[in-house]
Amino acid sequence: MNYEISSLCKAYMDFFPIGAAVNSSQIISDKELIINNFNSITPENELKFINTQPEEGVYSFDNADKIIDFAIENNMKVRGHTLICDNQTPDWVFKDKNGMAAERELVLERMKLYIQNIIEKYRNKVYCWDVVNEAIDDNDEILLRETRWKSCIGNDYIDKAFIFAHEADPNALLFYNDYNGEVDAKREKIYNLVKGMISRGVPIHGIGLQGHYDLHFPQLSDIRRTIEKIAELGIKIQITEMDISVFKFDDHSRNLTKPTPEMIKKQTELYEGIFAIFREYRDVISGVTLWGVTDAYTWRDDFPIKGRKDWPLLFNKDFSPKPALNSITHFYK
Ligand code: GLA
Repeated sequence: MNYEISSLCKAYMDFFPIGAAVNSSQIISDKELIINNFNSITPENELKFINTQPEEGVYSFDNADKIIDFAIENNMKVRGHTLICDNQTPDWVFKDKNGMAAERELVLERMKLYIQNIIEKYRNKVYCWDVVNEAIDDNDEILLRETRWKSCIGNDYIDKAFIFAHEADPNALLFYNDYNGEVDAKREKIYNLVKGMISRGVPIHGIGLQGHYDLHFPQLSDIRRTIEKIAELGIKIQITEMDISVFKFDDHSRNLTKPTPEMIKKQTELYEGIFAIFREYRDVISGVTLWGVTDAYTWRDDFPIKGRKDWPLLFNKDFSPKPALNSITHFYK
């Protein structure tokens, strides 16, 4: 099949790169579709701490290398995801040799070494990094999530991660990445966190809005408000992990074998409306990445409802474009 007509990234050439998160099997199974439609790649899990250094001093970069080599061979940009995150960081990082909670200095040293190793390894290949992921608490009253990084190092773990990353590659663009930045309280917290970093001279170049949406969340007006608020900080925005679930977050339906026509209609309208906003703000948005390629494989399956299949992306599992794909490219003739 010829996907030239639906070449997504070509339609967005004058706006921003269009990315996909992939694993090392998809670059084989979905190869043509990826090459024809995306010009940026994010390794889905392959660069995370748990996969690159599962044990102290034991490094494993094979899967990340496969994806990054694939991207470079096909002239795609690579987003590095993600350096400092609580999820998917192995426990050894936070333990001393007696198995007790490690001291600040030891964890800082491990953080620095890890960031240095990985960034230096991919220097000139990975152009930007999600340096810290999901540090903000979902409880409105609390600013920072109680991560193991925070409990060992202290609140300045975020600043430190950015400083180490900048030292390792002064040319890399450094992002703070989080979800639900469209919710009022969280938008404020992200804004204040990053504003504080900028005022302390911490090297940060952008905010990643993950963009895990669904048919009921968020409102287009909230997306617009978030983009405008971040733009006030004078730094870039990237949409880093976009998908639109056809379910309300905690909808327990497990019996669908395909999405209903109503779901597809609403999903199409949302993709169209959201991408129209992204295009409007192309001066501040420097990339939009989808969290997957086709509906055959998505982290949304089983999350947050076990046994629930979802259809949140732009391509069907047989690689045919969904109506949503047409709705975000129809402006391009
Ligand atoms: C978050 C993380 C990603 C990934 C997704 C689920 O959004 O940032 O790394 O784990 O959840 O795939």
